[in-house]
Formats: sequence, C-alpha cells, structure tokens
Amino acid sequence: MSSFLLLNGPNLNLLGSREPEVYGATRLEDIEANCIDVAEELGHQLDCFQSNAEHELIDRVQKAAADGVDFIIFNPGAFTHTSIALRDAFLAVAIPFIEIHLSNTFAREEFRHNSYFSDIAQSCLFGFGALGYELALHAASQHLAKAEEQ
Ligand code: DQA
Repeated sequence: MSSFLLLNGPNLNLLGSREPEVYGATRLEDIEANCIDVAEELGHQLDCFQSNAEHELIDRVQKAAADGVDFIIFNPGAFTHTSIALRDAFLAVAIPFIEIHLSNTFAREEFRHNSYFSDIAQSCLFGFGALGYELALHAASQHLAKAEEQ
C-alpha cells in the first residue's frame, strides 16, 4: 500500500460554483471523496489538503516528506504561474508528483501558459475536468508499481 497526497491550491475550494463553464460543476469535496474511494480500490491510502495560502501548501509538501508520502497529485491553481517557492519545495522533498489542471491552460490567456512545475513533474494532465483527478490516481498507481518492479 502506498501513501498519496492530493493537494489543491487557491480558489479550488470554490469548485462547483467558481466559473463552472471553465472548471465544471463538481465540488472539491466530491472530487476528494471520489479520489479517496478510487485510491482505496487501487489499494492505496490518500490524504487531501487544500489551501489558499502559499506557505500552508509549502508546509504541507514538507510534511509529506516527513510522513513518507510516496506520490503527490497537485493542482497549484494560480500558483502554477507564480510560485518559485512551491517549486523549490517540490525540488527539496523530491516526491514524484503529477501536475493537474481542470482546464486546458494552454487554450486560455497567455499568462497561464507558463508553469513553474511542468518541467519537474513526473507527468501533467490538462483539461480533463474532475475526471483528471481520477486519471492522475491511476497513472500514479501504475508509476509506483513500475518503480517497485525495478
Ligand atoms: C487551474 C488553472 C489556473 O490557471 C487557475 O489559476 C486555477 C485553476 C485549473 O485547474 O485549470 O486556479 O489550475
């Protein structure tokens, strides 16, 4: 059994009511509950954390290393495009992670095309809406299984 962390950044607590035409109608608590079920079906344990504050996300990444978390699924929200500090936290802990976005950020404003995470992520998912979180869990599970084989 592996330990996963689902980490969501600023404004993602508003999913369901926030720009539903862009981000869909599913609430974050429903995404999290579904991910916990999917992780359990895959034989893993999943913790969820969301914050609007950069330092809280950094602290949670650092705590993940102390807790022995094996894999992180991370939607950095707008910190995607701004946060060197969060990037450094991921580099510091060296926990593999998938960067995920509900929307296809490349089809949106130019400032959303840059990410401080994509080049250090194990892989990236853009534009699958809430389904992306489920896809990310399956991908993370396969990644860990392959890593164990080697
Ligand atoms: C987002 C995309 C970001 O550009 C935006 O700031 C968000 C959500 C997404 O999931 O599509 O908050 O990360």
